[in-house]
Amino acid sequence: MAARRPGIRGPGIVLLLLAAVIVMCAGPAAAAADPMITPADRASVAAVPGVVRVAQPEPIETGLARAEVRGPRGAVSRAASVGVDDPQAILIAVPRDGPGTYRVAWAGMTVDGHPFAGTSVFAVRTASPVAAQAQVPGSDGAGPLAVIARLLVLIGVLGMAGLALTREWVLSRAWVTGGLAPPGATGGEALRDRAAANASPYVIGWWRALWVLLAAWVAGLALALPVQAAAVGGQWSALLGDTRWGAAWIGLLVLAAAGALVAAVVRGRDPGLAPSGALLYIIALPGLLGAVLLSWSGHAARGTDATLGTALDIAHGWATAAWLGGLVMLLVLAMPLLAALGSVDRVRLGAAIVVRFSTVAVIAVVVLVITGTYRALAELPSLSALWSTDYGLALLVKLAVFAVMLVLAAGNRFVIHPRLERSALGLAPADASDGVRALAASVRVEVLLGVAVLAAVAVMVVLMPPT
Ligand code: HEM
Repeated sequence: MAARRPGIRGPGIVLLLLAAVIVMCAGPAAAAADPMITPADRASVAAVPGVVRVAQPEPIETGLARAEVRGPRGAVSRAASVGVDDPQAILIAVPRDGPGTYRVAWAGMTVDGHPFAGTSVFAVRTASPVAAQAQVPGSDGAGPLAVIARLLVLIGVLGMAGLALTREWVLSRAWVTGGLAPPGATGGEALRDRAAANASPYVIGWWRALWVLLAAWVAGLALALPVQAAAVGGQWSALLGDTRWGAAWIGLLVLAAAGALVAAVVRGRDPGLAPSGALLYIIALPGLLGAVLLSWSGHAARGTDATLGTALDIAHGWATAAWLGGLVMLLVLAMPLLAALGSVDRVRLGAAIVVRFSTVAVIAVVVLVITGTYRALAELPSLSALWSTDYGLALLVKLAVFAVMLVLAAGNRFVIHPRLERSALGLAPADASDGVRALAASVRVEVLLGVAVLAAVAVMVVLMPPT
């Protein structure tokens, strides 16, 4: 009986709608936090100040900081700098241009990748300044396209790593044991042969999924660069050459290329269901290193706890890879393969797969909750910031979707898993194969929810945390 491949049109449409809703919500909110300006916007001062100071909540990339001050009689100063001892502020010298309205404009990017831009005015020895007219190329925040770019990169980087690792840890290990059976049971060898004989169309499905994830990774990078460059006023070379964001972008591109090369080489040596030795780890490596670059160039890498924060953020990303990448591996390879087997083989191999995946999923969820809680406490100044800030709201949406995933996962862990295990061990009626079908349906929904969690994460990363 040819196993029916899981249809993705329905879930695909739901996913697109979900992404559209998230982008619509994220766009206006993706602007950077309000800077501290001295003299303040619309202030009146007695004398011409030496400098204007524009401070951001985060350290600023010196290579991208630009600003200007225009005097009431047309004098212009573009002498802007970021002080070593004041890394969160742009200082702009003010031209001596007499009493009247001075117009200020600035643009730049913080070290964790947030573009910012703005204008202000102040008046010298006159009652009130007239409206701002100065402008410096650049935008305040990277906007909705940056959210889509980040989502694609997260899906690609973490999905590829998890898809490869869990094929080794879960499927190959379950296959090599001959499935789960009562002690002393025979037939393991025959099951391995039958499963291997049926596996190739689903191994092809696994490779197709790997290439799709790699394409998402590259598409995300291809979108991220022009969006970020536009947000910093078209300074492509400074963005790529002088910033942490740029270094991470180049690193991720090199890793994507390495991933494609490795996949192309390994494709011809695919061992089928058998353990691959190092091959699948080599395929997973670019994704694992990509997760390190995402954390190194993200919010976790700034602030007093940068080292610990980054390490925990990396662990958070890797746990996501194991759980979500594992769900995709079940969806495109393990579940269709099981559906192609007879009911006895399905229960025996299915039980072994479910037992192993449950272990991976439980460890991943525990790591996600511990590291996520630390990261949340590091980024949120107060509990109320959860519902009073855009960043907090994005985290709340993420946690709500995570809660639904946990309910589904608990159903698998405490209902389907023990039923399959007891049946495979001969402790319950033989045919529990509908448990495998129920699991396949749950996995489809969990993968969709996983993408929704990553979409909320992409919004969090593009927003400036309220710290
Ligand atoms: C108690 C549950 C969780 C909490 C409190 C939490 C909290 C956080 C926080 C605060 C960040 C930092 C975002 C930033 O850089 O500003 C983060 C990042 C992230 N979270 Fe979670 N999280 C949780 C569960 C999850 C789950 C279940 C997943 C996926 C299934 C997930 C996936 C991610 C990913 C991929 C990142 C890294 C984003 C990046 O650096 O690019 N998290 N999480």
